[in-house]
Amino acid sequence: MNLKNLSILLAALPLAACAHGPAGEAMAAWAPEESQAIAAWPVRSPTTVQDAEVEAHIRAIVAGMTLEQKIGQMTQPDIRYITPDQVREHYIGTILNGGGAWPSMDKHASVADWAALADAYAHASTSTDMPVQIPILWGIDAVHGNNNVYGATLFPHNIGLGAAHDPELIERIGAATARSVRATGISWAFAPTLAVAENQRWGRAYESYSSDPAEVARNGAALVRGLQGDMVGEGAVLATAKHFVGDGGTYLGIDQGETRTSADYLARVHGAGYYATLDAHVQSVMVSYSSWTMDGRIPFGKMHGDKALVTGVLKQSLGFDGLVVSDWNAIEQVPGCSVDHCPQAINAGVDIFMVPEKWQGFIANTIADVREGRVPMARIDDAVTRILRVKFRLGLFDRPTSASRYTGDASAISDRPLAQEAVRKSVVLLKNDNGTLPLAPGKRVLVVGAAADSFADQSGGWSITWQGDAIDNGDFPNGETLLAGMQRVFGSANVTYSPDAHGVDPARFDVVVAVLSETPHAEMKGDVRWPAPLSHSASYPGDAALLARVSGKGAPVVTVLYSGRTVYTTDLLNQSDAFVAAFLPGTEAGAMADLMAGRNGLDFSGRLSFAWPNTPCISGGEPAGEALFPRNYGLSYRAGKKTGKLREAESVQSCP
Ligand code: GLC
Repeated sequence: MNLKNLSILLAALPLAACAHGPAGEAMAAWAPEESQAIAAWPVRSPTTVQDAEVEAHIRAIVAGMTLEQKIGQMTQPDIRYITPDQVREHYIGTILNGGGAWPSMDKHASVADWAALADAYAHASTSTDMPVQIPILWGIDAVHGNNNVYGATLFPHNIGLGAAHDPELIERIGAATARSVRATGISWAFAPTLAVAENQRWGRAYESYSSDPAEVARNGAALVRGLQGDMVGEGAVLATAKHFVGDGGTYLGIDQGETRTSADYLARVHGAGYYATLDAHVQSVMVSYSSWTMDGRIPFGKMHGDKALVTGVLKQSLGFDGLVVSDWNAIEQVPGCSVDHCPQAINAGVDIFMVPEKWQGFIANTIADVREGRVPMARIDDAVTRILRVKFRLGLFDRPTSASRYTGDASAISDRPLAQEAVRKSVVLLKNDNGTLPLAPGKRVLVVGAAADSFADQSGGWSITWQGDAIDNGDFPNGETLLAGMQRVFGSANVTYSPDAHGVDPARFDVVVAVLSETPHAEMKGDVRWPAPLSHSASYPGDAALLARVSGKGAPVVTVLYSGRTVYTTDLLNQSDAFVAAFLPGTEAGAMADLMAGRNGLDFSGRLSFAWPNTPCISGGEPAGEALFPRNYGLSYRAGKKTGKLREAESVQSCP
């Protein structure tokens, strides 16, 4: 339905009088400490223009909606727990598929299967008994390509993209990701993460571009531009600035933990990505699970209940007029709330509630909250207004998401050349003594380590499944492992593969490539909790044993590490002649082989986006005294230097 037809229909509906603040919410009165917190942030004009005709339509639509229909718009179930018919019956405005959810729960679901399911939900959402049909919005964690989808190209995770120092590349990755998402009939990506990770113990450190707020800002804005384009194009999707705010600053890197900073630091460091992505016209913001304690002594509590920051800062001071979405069941962490009931979060300024399973309880409880005066109707109207505004801006009222040339196009989820470029730019050469690299053609290469031939290890979390677990190479029909890349570049006859390095004599080869890896993880499952040592050998003794089996045995060793963080590896560096920090390169890890051969003049250009620690007991914040290699460090063939033997920390079983 286009705006013209809509205006004819809406003319019949009664207009409601709505009092709105500068960015569409009722102005609030703040306690002194709240005013102090808010004052630390800049006051900015909205970066988006509100179209008067659209706003009038929105007001008329909202005025014609029942409370049930309004709350339905604010509710976001997971596809595992809601059918298209229920979407219609309950006026649901958005859905999501969390990591590890696919059409018919088939992890090999085709692009056509995804598009068909999206169409079923879209059709249901516009088949209600409402006077004006409101199209549904489906959100997905496309955080390094459309990573839930079988056959999709998965790009390097953000920690690697940060090391590329190439926002233009990230913008192209955003555009490719948007096309890949639209191929599945979906039009909302829960990316970019704008965390400024300050402690590599954090299980989500790899979702952060850098410990440098300016890098996070540049790269986050680039991804938003790539994803959203002009917002209405056939290859555009809604982007999400997440997780507001301070997710990367939690104490000891505890996921969903407590960020203890001054208001000024929160605004300057952890807010950096939000100014830039607002300038890039990001239209959705996801709230952080974490909490904030001002100056380490004034608790503002969980972000999902923090009206001063979500409404006072984000919506009023920063002028954000898009929609705010909660994180997965995050409202249950707000004191006094439960998984399906949280008036505090609604009043704080959250507009859409990611209540994957208990969504029916949420609807019933929220209707009661409004009827019993715990949530003012003005707040509900503001939330629905924001949701409709974003849907108008996405063009959903003019044409269904499925009306894109990418819908159902399996070729649109693949962009191997772009991913290969990203891999080559994102890996960092930390050591290259005695000219070990580049490897000349014809070299006899022994490759060891199961990770050398593991799409799961090279892709990390958020890959097919939430944790990147319970998958194998059969789940990745499109891409190249490092082993396959080595075989391609050096010739299979010159490459011998031994996953465990047993029964092979390194001395019979010209070089050994040892591929070590973290176990893929996402969110809290990746935390390395204090006082455990943040050391790869301590966490993965099998890797340490593998390297010991080939190091100093008659052939130089090139170690390649897949990790979602910078991590203490001085012991491993000392057993290696060359060392590549590959981070989590995604489905095209094989592109490293071209780099390691220096083919066609290829050279390393990656530079660390986080400091590389010299201790397993990092304190957080990357003090210079704890850096083996500082942020922006990285060698190349043209600018190499001898690393030599490094001083190792005492054998650390536990940090003090
Ligand atoms: C997760 C993550 C968030 C993600 C959401 C939906 O818990 O915190 O980044 O977008 O849930 O999967």
